[in-house]
Amino acid sequence: MLILDGKVASQSVKENLTEATRQLKEQGKRPPHLAAILIGNNGASETYVASKVKFCAEIGFTSTLIRLDDTTEEKELLAKIEELNTDDRVDGILVQLPLPKHISEANIINSIDPDKDVDGFHPVSVGRLVQGLDTFIPATPYGIMLMLEHFQLTTKGKHAVVIGRSNIVGRPMSILLSSNIPFGNCTVTICHSHTPDLRQMTLQADIIIAALGKPEFVKADMVKPGAIVIDVGITRVDDATATRGYRIKGDVDFKAVSSVASAVSPVPGGVGLMTIAGLMKNTLSAYERRNQ
Ligand code: GUN
Repeated sequence: MLILDGKVASQSVKENLTEATRQLKEQGKRPPHLAAILIGNNGASETYVASKVKFCAEIGFTSTLIRLDDTTEEKELLAKIEELNTDDRVDGILVQLPLPKHISEANIINSIDPDKDVDGFHPVSVGRLVQGLDTFIPATPYGIMLMLEHFQLTTKGKHAVVIGRSNIVGRPMSILLSSNIPFGNCTVTICHSHTPDLRQMTLQADIIIAALGKPEFVKADMVKPGAIVIDVGITRVDDATATRGYRIKGDVDFKAVSSVASAVSPVPGGVGLMTIAGLMKNTLSAYERRNQ
């Protein structure tokens, strides 16, 4: 059984991005610049944004972290985004989700300049993805494709079952795997909370993408022998014996599924690291588009 180690796969992306940044600096150019907005004190969001800022520093990108109070009004956030949209020194804008309930996620995503939409959540980016045009691919599905590519796992002609239909992972993942960009060419089934017999679906899958947010949901008896299983879940589960009082759990029962599958991505140390790699590749693309 192959462990799809995100540390190993993201390292090669990291080296490429570091080299690209070094070359830009050698030519006297400024490095790519990612601006991240974090609203409130959601613990998980704090961790994710901190990892993105750290990754930027490690590859030589500039990053700006804008922290706003969770009482910030929608119009103040819109004004901040407009400031970043018109700032020539900013290539990519990321607003960490989820947002406080009084702010409309759709309004915020719509307000980001599509040329700086490195999360790939803007309707223009999604529309371009659906049409197979050059776009910003949402970071997690992008990272998963990079992971499959790194481990030379072929997707062409395979049956992929995606569990979860979120705008961030499940839906764009299904589009990517079914299209031929960068390489998908799978037959894809999307399952969700209204799928009557999920096990019957997953048992037919050559590739399972588990992105539903339920700890250890995918069990060994749901997996066809030899299948590839990608775990996108990151849930904090209370555990008094853990240092921080919680443990991170994926959507896959890793130990049990490992005895059936041919390859499984672990949590932590799997897809999460690839997501950041995908985001940074998008940020470099945004920079290149704006500076060509
Ligand atoms: N929240 C969970 N995943 C993501 C992501 O990929 N981007 C942003 N902006 N927020 C998220």
